[in-house]
Amino acid sequence: MEFKFSQENLNQIEEEVKKYPVKKPVVMFALYAAQEQNGFISNEVIDDVASVLQMTEEEVLGVVTFYTMYHQKEMGKFHIQVCTNLSCMLRGGYDIWKQVKDRLGIDNWQVTDDKIFSLEEVECMGNCGTAPMIAVNEDYYENLTKEKVEEILLSLKKSN
Ligand code: FES
Repeated sequence: MEFKFSQENLNQIEEEVKKYPVKKPVVMFALYAAQEQNGFISNEVIDDVASVLQMTEEEVLGVVTFYTMYHQKEMGKFHIQVCTNLSCMLRGGYDIWKQVKDRLGIDNWQVTDDKIFSLEEVECMGNCGTAPMIAVNEDYYENLTKEKVEEILLSLKKSN
């Protein structure tokens, strides 16, 4: 599926580029904008980001695959990331991971049939002091218990 940045996104990228002597540092901003526009980072998105920022496709792909916030396939309306790294693991991260998997009936990197939820197990999201935690899109939920997770899932289902 073809992808070209919208004029609005191109204008914003141009503004960001002005802050640096070269275009490369804007790659994360551009990828984020592209994901917002396209829903995920396709090969065509990578091509366009590379062309706009005068980078190689390989350089852009390296950034895409390094950061968990970029998705190379279409995710659900609510993309749930469950941290199971050390601090979260010690405070029940794997119980939460299993709870969310069972509740949604999907596994890592899968999307529910109705495309409402997708799931991803992630490494540390920088909130170890308030472990265990999950993220739903860009919102962080911390100091979680099984009950709180249940409430979050229910409220997401209701909000749909
Ligand atoms: S280990 Fe989960 S946020 Fe750091």
